[in-house]
Amino acid sequence: MKALVLSGGAGTRLRPITHTSAKQLVPVANKPVLFYGLEAIADAGITEVGIVVGDTAEEIREAVGDGSALGIRVTYLPQEAPLGLAHAVLISRDFLGDDDFVMYLGDNFIVGGITPLVDAFRAERPEAQILLTRVPNPTSFGVAELDAAGAVVGLEEKPAKPKSDLALVGVYLFTPAVHEAVRAIEPSARGELEITHAMQWLIDADRDVRSTVISGYWKDTGNVTDMLEVNRSVLETVEPLDRGTVDDASEIIGRVRIEPGAHVTNSRIVGPAIIGAGTVVSDAYVGPFTSVSEDCRIEDSEIEYSIVLRGSSVIGVRRVEASLIGRDVEVTPAPRNPSAHRLVLGDHSKVQISS
Ligand code: DAU
Repeated sequence: MKALVLSGGAGTRLRPITHTSAKQLVPVANKPVLFYGLEAIADAGITEVGIVVGDTAEEIREAVGDGSALGIRVTYLPQEAPLGLAHAVLISRDFLGDDDFVMYLGDNFIVGGITPLVDAFRAERPEAQILLTRVPNPTSFGVAELDAAGAVVGLEEKPAKPKSDLALVGVYLFTPAVHEAVRAIEPSARGELEITHAMQWLIDADRDVRSTVISGYWKDTGNVTDMLEVNRSVLETVEPLDRGTVDDASEIIGRVRIEPGAHVTNSRIVGPAIIGAGTVVSDAYVGPFTSVSEDCRIEDSEIEYSIVLRGSSVIGVRRVEASLIGRDVEVTPAPRNPSAHRLVLGDHSKVQISS
Protein backbone atom coordinates (compact mmCIF):
# COMPACT_ATOMS: atom_id res chain seq x y z
CA MET A 1 0.00 0.00 0.00
CA LYS A 2 1.21 3.52 -0.83
CA ALA A 3 0.30 7.02 0.32
CA LEU A 4 -0.43 10.10 -1.76
CA VAL A 5 -0.11 13.30 0.24
CA LEU A 6 -1.47 16.47 -1.30
CA SER A 7 0.66 19.52 -0.54
CA GLY A 8 0.13 21.50 -3.70
CA GLY A 9 -1.97 24.58 -4.15
CA ALA A 10 -0.96 28.18 -4.67
CA GLY A 11 1.49 29.94 -2.38
CA THR A 12 -0.84 32.75 -1.44
CA ARG A 13 -3.82 32.31 0.82
CA LEU A 14 -6.22 34.79 2.27
CA ARG A 15 -4.91 35.13 5.75
CA PRO A 16 -1.76 36.57 7.16
CA ILE A 17 0.02 33.44 8.28
CA THR A 18 -0.22 31.69 4.92
CA HIS A 19 0.18 34.71 2.65
CA THR A 20 3.78 33.88 2.15
CA SER A 21 4.10 30.20 2.87
CA ALA A 22 2.55 26.79 2.32
CA LYS A 23 -0.53 26.15 4.41
CA GLN A 24 0.62 22.57 5.01
CA LEU A 25 3.54 24.01 6.99
CA VAL A 26 1.41 25.92 9.51
CA PRO A 27 2.79 24.68 12.84
CA VAL A 28 0.82 22.87 15.53
CA ALA A 29 2.87 22.62 18.75
CA ASN A 30 5.90 23.85 16.75
CA LYS A 31 5.59 21.10 14.11
CA PRO A 32 4.18 21.61 10.61
CA VAL A 33 0.68 20.17 10.28
CA LEU A 34 1.92 18.13 7.29
CA PHE A 35 4.34 16.21 9.54
CA TYR A 36 1.51 14.84 11.69
CA GLY A 37 0.00 13.35 8.54
CA LEU A 38 3.32 11.87 7.40
CA GLU A 39 3.87 10.38 10.87
CA ALA A 40 0.36 8.90 10.87
CA ILE A 41 1.15 7.31 7.49
CA ALA A 42 4.45 5.89 8.76
CA ASP A 43 2.71 4.59 11.92
CA ALA A 44 0.22 2.76 9.71
CA GLY A 45 3.16 0.87 8.18
CA ILE A 46 3.22 2.70 4.84
CA THR A 47 6.67 3.71 3.62
CA GLU A 48 6.21 4.63 -0.08
CA VAL A 49 4.85 8.18 -0.04
CA GLY A 50 4.21 10.45 -3.02
CA ILE A 51 3.86 14.14 -2.18
CA VAL A 52 2.03 16.25 -4.74
CA VAL A 53 3.57 19.74 -4.81
CA GLY A 54 2.75 23.01 -6.56
CA ASP A 55 3.95 26.63 -6.20
CA THR A 56 5.40 25.99 -2.76
CA ALA A 57 7.36 22.88 -3.82
CA GLU A 58 10.71 24.26 -2.64
CA GLU A 59 9.45 25.00 0.85
CA ILE A 60 7.87 21.56 1.18
CA ARG A 61 11.02 19.80 -0.08
CA GLU A 62 13.17 21.77 2.31
CA ALA A 63 10.98 20.77 5.26
CA VAL A 64 10.44 17.08 4.42
CA GLY A 65 13.56 16.13 2.43
CA ASP A 66 13.70 12.47 1.40
CA GLY A 67 11.47 11.49 4.34
CA SER A 68 14.09 9.27 5.97
CA ALA A 69 13.86 11.20 9.25
CA LEU A 70 10.22 10.13 9.39
CA GLY A 71 10.88 6.56 8.29
CA ILE A 72 9.33 6.97 4.83
CA ARG A 73 10.61 7.25 1.24
CA VAL A 74 9.28 10.35 -0.46
CA THR A 75 8.75 10.85 -4.18
CA TYR A 76 7.81 14.41 -5.17
CA LEU A 77 5.09 14.69 -7.80
CA PRO A 78 4.89 18.19 -9.31
CA GLN A 79 1.40 19.36 -10.31
CA GLU A 80 1.44 22.23 -12.81
CA ALA A 81 -1.54 23.97 -11.18
CA PRO A 82 -4.06 23.16 -8.42
CA LEU A 83 -6.55 21.60 -10.82
CA GLY A 84 -8.28 19.49 -8.19
CA LEU A 85 -7.81 16.54 -5.87
CA ALA A 86 -8.81 14.07 -8.59
CA HIS A 87 -6.33 15.77 -10.93
CA ALA A 88 -3.64 15.07 -8.33
CA VAL A 89 -4.56 11.37 -8.51
CA LEU A 90 -4.52 11.52 -12.30
CA ILE A 91 -0.96 12.87 -12.49
CA SER A 92 0.23 10.37 -9.87
CA ARG A 93 -0.81 7.31 -11.89
CA ASP A 94 2.75 6.10 -12.59
CA PHE A 95 3.82 6.49 -8.97
CA LEU A 96 0.70 4.71 -7.66
CA GLY A 97 0.82 1.84 -10.17
CA ASP A 98 -1.75 -0.80 -9.32
CA ASP A 99 -1.38 -0.48 -5.57
CA ASP A 100 -4.05 0.45 -3.07
CA PHE A 101 -3.35 3.83 -1.52
CA VAL A 102 -4.35 6.29 1.16
CA MET A 103 -4.80 9.85 -0.07
CA TYR A 104 -4.07 12.37 2.68
CA LEU A 105 -4.66 16.12 2.33
CA GLY A 106 -1.60 17.84 3.75
CA ASP A 107 -3.55 20.57 5.56
CA ASN A 108 -5.71 18.13 7.56
CA PHE A 109 -5.07 17.01 11.13
CA ILE A 110 -6.59 13.79 12.46
CA VAL A 111 -6.35 13.20 16.19
CA GLY A 112 -5.31 9.59 16.87
CA GLY A 113 -3.83 8.84 13.45
CA ILE A 114 -5.11 6.49 10.75
CA THR A 115 -3.75 3.06 11.69
CA PRO A 116 -7.10 1.37 12.57
CA LEU A 117 -8.60 2.75 9.39
CA VAL A 118 -5.76 1.49 7.19
CA ASP A 119 -5.84 -1.92 8.90
CA ALA A 120 -9.60 -2.25 8.31
CA PHE A 121 -9.19 -1.22 4.68
CA ARG A 122 -6.39 -3.73 4.12
CA ALA A 123 -8.61 -6.49 5.55
CA GLU A 124 -11.81 -5.65 3.66
CA ARG A 125 -10.72 -3.74 0.54
CA PRO A 126 -13.87 -1.86 -0.44
CA GLU A 127 -13.27 0.21 -3.60
CA ALA A 128 -13.18 3.40 -1.54
CA GLN A 129 -13.32 4.26 2.13
CA ILE A 130 -13.95 7.80 3.36
CA LEU A 131 -13.95 9.53 6.71
CA LEU A 132 -16.71 11.89 7.79
CA THR A 133 -17.05 14.28 10.67
CA ARG A 134 -19.86 16.53 11.86
CA VAL A 135 -19.14 20.21 11.22
CA PRO A 136 -21.07 23.41 11.92
CA ASN A 137 -20.29 24.79 8.41
CA PRO A 138 -20.85 21.97 5.88
CA THR A 139 -21.01 24.41 2.94
CA SER A 140 -17.19 24.71 3.22
CA PHE A 141 -16.61 20.97 2.67
CA GLY A 142 -17.55 17.96 0.63
CA VAL A 143 -20.77 16.65 2.21
CA ALA A 144 -22.06 13.06 2.38
CA GLU A 145 -25.61 11.81 2.40
CA LEU A 146 -26.10 8.44 4.10
CA ASP A 147 -29.11 6.11 3.94
CA ALA A 148 -30.81 4.68 7.02
CA ALA A 149 -28.30 1.80 7.11
CA GLY A 150 -25.38 4.23 7.04
CA ALA A 151 -24.35 3.54 3.42
CA VAL A 152 -23.08 6.49 1.36
CA VAL A 153 -25.71 7.35 -1.24
CA GLY A 154 -24.56 10.78 -2.35
CA LEU A 155 -21.60 13.15 -2.15
CA GLU A 156 -21.60 16.84 -3.02
CA GLU A 157 -18.71 19.32 -3.09
CA LYS A 158 -19.37 22.51 -1.08
CA PRO A 159 -23.14 22.42 -1.61
CA ALA A 160 -25.16 25.62 -1.08
CA LYS A 161 -27.87 23.49 0.59
CA PRO A 162 -26.08 20.62 2.34
CA LYS A 163 -28.09 17.42 2.81
CA SER A 164 -26.30 16.68 6.11
CA ASP A 165 -23.67 18.09 8.45
CA LEU A 166 -21.30 15.20 7.67
CA ALA A 167 -18.19 16.66 6.03
CA LEU A 168 -15.61 14.69 4.11
CA VAL A 169 -12.37 14.58 6.06
CA GLY A 170 -9.22 14.79 3.94
CA VAL A 171 -8.22 11.12 4.23
CA TYR A 172 -9.44 8.66 1.60
CA LEU A 173 -8.54 5.04 0.92
CA PHE A 174 -8.72 3.67 -2.59
CA THR A 175 -8.15 0.55 -4.63
CA PRO A 176 -6.97 1.13 -8.23
CA ALA A 177 -10.69 1.36 -9.20
CA VAL A 178 -10.41 5.10 -8.55
CA HIS A 179 -8.20 5.59 -11.63
CA GLU A 180 -11.09 4.81 -13.97
CA ALA A 181 -13.27 7.26 -12.01
CA VAL A 182 -10.81 10.18 -12.14
CA ARG A 183 -10.48 9.70 -15.91
CA ALA A 184 -14.25 9.65 -16.37
CA ILE A 185 -15.25 12.91 -14.62
CA GLU A 186 -15.34 16.50 -15.93
CA PRO A 187 -14.12 19.66 -14.15
CA SER A 188 -16.60 21.16 -11.67
CA ALA A 189 -18.09 24.67 -11.69
CA ARG A 190 -14.96 25.89 -9.85
CA GLY A 191 -12.82 24.38 -12.62
CA GLU A 192 -11.38 21.51 -10.56
CA LEU A 193 -11.46 17.76 -11.04
CA GLU A 194 -13.17 16.88 -7.74
CA ILE A 195 -12.39 13.66 -5.89
CA THR A 196 -15.91 13.97 -4.50
CA HIS A 197 -17.25 13.57 -8.06
CA ALA A 198 -14.94 10.62 -8.70
CA MET A 199 -16.40 8.88 -5.66
CA GLN A 200 -19.94 9.74 -6.73
CA TRP A 201 -19.03 8.09 -10.05
CA LEU A 202 -17.99 4.94 -8.14
CA ILE A 203 -21.27 5.00 -6.15
CA ASP A 204 -23.30 5.39 -9.36
CA ALA A 205 -21.40 2.41 -10.82
CA ASP A 206 -22.51 0.35 -7.75
CA ARG A 207 -18.98 0.11 -6.42
CA ASP A 208 -18.43 -0.35 -2.69
CA VAL A 209 -17.85 3.08 -1.10
CA ARG A 210 -17.84 2.97 2.69
CA SER A 211 -17.67 5.62 5.37
CA THR A 212 -16.60 5.97 8.97
CA VAL A 213 -17.62 8.90 11.17
CA ILE A 214 -14.82 10.27 13.35
CA SER A 215 -14.33 13.07 15.87
CA GLY A 216 -11.07 14.87 16.57
CA TYR A 217 -10.53 16.56 13.23
CA TRP A 218 -9.06 19.91 12.27
CA LYS A 219 -8.32 21.61 8.98
CA ASP A 220 -6.39 24.78 8.35
CA THR A 221 -9.38 26.98 7.66
CA GLY A 222 -7.70 30.22 8.66
CA ASN A 223 -9.70 30.21 11.86
CA VAL A 224 -7.43 31.34 14.70
CA THR A 225 -9.74 30.08 17.44
CA ASP A 226 -9.58 26.56 15.97
CA MET A 227 -5.84 26.78 15.54
CA LEU A 228 -5.28 27.77 19.17
CA GLU A 229 -7.55 24.93 20.21
CA VAL A 230 -5.77 22.24 18.18
CA ASN A 231 -2.44 23.62 19.44
CA ARG A 232 -3.77 23.34 22.99
CA SER A 233 -4.85 19.72 22.58
CA VAL A 234 -1.54 18.65 21.01
CA LEU A 235 0.52 20.46 23.66
CA GLU A 236 -1.21 18.30 26.25
CA THR A 237 0.48 15.26 24.70
CA VAL A 238 4.01 16.50 23.88
CA GLU A 239 6.91 14.94 25.70
CA PRO A 240 8.55 17.30 28.19
CA LEU A 241 12.19 18.03 27.36
CA ASP A 242 14.92 20.15 28.83
CA ARG A 243 17.59 20.71 26.21
CA GLY A 244 18.05 24.42 26.72
CA THR A 245 19.56 26.37 29.59
CA VAL A 246 17.38 27.43 32.48
CA ASP A 247 18.89 29.58 35.23
CA ASP A 248 18.25 29.13 38.96
CA ALA A 249 15.98 32.16 39.13
CA SER A 250 13.52 30.52 36.72
CA GLU A 251 10.66 28.19 37.49
CA ILE A 252 9.41 25.53 35.10
CA ILE A 253 6.08 23.98 36.04
CA GLY A 254 4.30 21.05 34.43
CA ARG A 255 4.69 19.72 30.88
CA VAL A 256 7.20 22.07 29.28
CA ARG A 257 9.39 21.32 26.28
CA ILE A 258 12.51 23.44 26.06
CA GLU A 259 14.25 22.76 22.77
CA PRO A 260 18.01 22.80 22.15
CA GLY A 261 19.74 26.14 22.49
CA ALA A 262 16.80 27.92 24.15
CA HIS A 263 17.70 30.19 27.10
CA VAL A 264 15.35 30.83 29.99
CA THR A 265 16.37 33.39 32.60
CA ASN A 266 14.47 34.82 35.56
CA SER A 267 11.19 33.57 34.11
CA ARG A 268 8.23 31.39 34.97
CA ILE A 269 6.92 28.90 32.43
CA VAL A 270 3.74 26.99 33.21
CA GLY A 271 3.00 24.08 30.89
CA PRO A 272 1.86 22.66 28.69
CA ALA A 273 4.12 24.85 26.60
CA ILE A 274 6.98 24.66 24.10
CA ILE A 275 9.94 26.99 23.84
CA GLY A 276 11.56 26.55 20.43
CA ALA A 277 15.24 26.08 19.65
CA GLY A 278 17.35 29.21 20.04
CA THR A 279 14.54 31.19 21.67
CA VAL A 280 15.31 33.52 24.58
CA VAL A 281 12.80 33.92 27.42
CA SER A 282 13.89 36.43 30.03
CA ASP A 283 12.08 38.23 32.86
CA ALA A 284 8.89 36.78 31.44
CA TYR A 285 5.88 34.63 32.17
CA VAL A 286 4.86 32.02 29.59
CA GLY A 287 1.54 30.46 30.53
CA PRO A 288 -0.26 27.25 29.61
CA PHE A 289 -1.02 26.26 26.00
CA THR A 290 1.65 28.46 24.47
CA SER A 291 3.92 27.43 21.58
CA VAL A 292 6.89 29.69 20.94
CA SER A 293 8.77 28.68 17.77
CA GLU A 294 12.50 28.86 17.20
CA ASP A 295 14.66 32.00 17.42
CA CYS A 296 12.08 34.16 19.22
CA ARG A 297 12.53 36.61 22.10
CA ILE A 298 10.00 36.83 24.92
CA GLU A 299 11.37 39.48 27.27
CA ASP A 300 9.84 41.42 30.13
CA SER A 301 6.42 40.17 28.96
CA GLU A 302 3.56 37.84 29.80
CA ILE A 303 2.04 35.52 27.23
CA GLU A 304 -0.48 32.70 27.51
CA TYR A 305 -2.64 30.48 25.26
CA SER A 306 -0.86 31.75 22.15
CA ILE A 307 1.27 30.72 19.18
CA VAL A 308 4.38 32.68 18.22
CA LEU A 309 6.09 31.77 14.95
CA ARG A 310 9.77 31.82 14.04
CA GLY A 311 11.94 34.86 14.62
CA SER A 312 9.38 37.02 16.43
CA SER A 313 9.82 39.09 19.56
CA VAL A 314 7.44 40.15 22.31
CA ILE A 315 9.25 42.67 24.49
CA GLY A 316 7.84 44.72 27.37
CA VAL A 317 4.22 43.73 26.78
CA ARG A 318 1.68 42.45 29.28
CA ARG A 319 -0.33 40.61 28.68
CA VAL A 320 -0.76 38.72 25.43
CA GLU A 321 -3.48 36.05 25.33
CA ALA A 322 -5.29 33.95 22.69
CA SER A 323 -3.01 35.35 20.00
CA LEU A 324 -1.40 34.04 16.83
CA ILE A 325 1.78 35.95 16.01
CA GLY A 326 3.39 35.32 12.60
CA ARG A 327 7.04 35.14 11.60
CA ASP A 328 9.57 37.91 12.28
CA VAL A 329 6.95 40.03 14.04
CA GLU A 330 7.90 42.61 16.69
CA VAL A 331 5.49 43.43 19.50
CA THR A 332 6.73 46.23 21.78
CA PRO A 333 5.18 49.02 23.86
CA ALA A 334 4.60 52.42 22.26
CA PRO A 335 6.47 55.42 23.69
CA ARG A 336 4.53 57.12 26.53
CA ASN A 337 4.29 60.40 24.71
CA PRO A 338 2.28 60.67 22.54
CA SER A 339 0.14 57.91 24.02
CA ALA A 340 -0.94 56.19 20.83
CA HIS A 341 -1.03 52.72 19.28
CA ARG A 342 1.45 52.39 16.45
CA LEU A 343 0.64 49.56 14.09
CA VAL A 344 2.27 48.14 10.99
CA LEU A 345 -0.03 45.27 10.07
CA GLY A 346 0.00 43.04 7.01
CA ASP A 347 -3.05 42.40 4.88
CA HIS A 348 -5.89 40.53 6.63
CA SER A 349 -4.36 41.08 10.09
CA LYS A 350 -6.59 41.39 13.13
CA VAL A 351 -5.69 43.36 16.25
CA GLN A 352 -7.63 43.74 19.50
CA ILE A 353 -6.35 46.51 21.76
CA SER A 354 -7.21 46.54 25.46
CA SER A 355 -7.31 50.19 26.42
O1 DAU B 1 -10.24 19.21 3.95
C1 DAU B 1 -11.36 18.47 3.59
C2 DAU B 1 -11.94 18.99 2.27
O2 DAU B 1 -10.86 19.01 1.32
C3 DAU B 1 -13.08 18.09 1.78
O3 DAU B 1 -14.20 18.20 2.63
C4 DAU B 1 -13.49 18.48 0.36
O4 DAU B 1 -14.46 17.58 -0.11
C5 DAU B 1 -12.27 18.46 -0.56
O5 DAU B 1 -12.62 18.89 -1.87
C6 DAU B 1 -11.19 19.38 -0.01
O6 DAU B 1 -11.68 20.69 -0.04
P1 DAU B 1 -10.82 22.03 -0.10
O7 DAU B 1 -11.38 22.93 -1.15
O8 DAU B 1 -10.77 22.57 1.27
O9 DAU B 1 -9.39 21.55 -0.57
P2 DAU B 1 -8.11 22.45 -0.71
O10 DAU B 1 -8.17 23.24 -1.98
O11 DAU B 1 -7.86 23.18 0.57
O12 DAU B 1 -7.00 21.35 -0.91
C7 DAU B 1 -6.76 20.35 0.05
C8 DAU B 1 -5.28 19.99 0.06
O13 DAU B 1 -4.87 19.47 -1.21
C9 DAU B 1 -4.35 21.16 0.32
O14 DAU B 1 -3.28 20.67 1.13
C10 DAU B 1 -3.84 21.59 -1.04
C11 DAU B 1 -3.85 20.28 -1.81
N1 DAU B 1 -4.16 20.39 -3.23
C12 DAU B 1 -5.36 20.94 -3.61
C13 DAU B 1 -5.72 21.02 -4.93
C14 DAU B 1 -7.04 21.61 -5.35
C15 DAU B 1 -3.28 19.89 -4.17
O15 DAU B 1 -2.20 19.38 -3.82
N2 DAU B 1 -3.63 19.98 -5.50
C16 DAU B 1 -4.81 20.53 -5.93
O16 DAU B 1 -5.07 20.54 -7.15
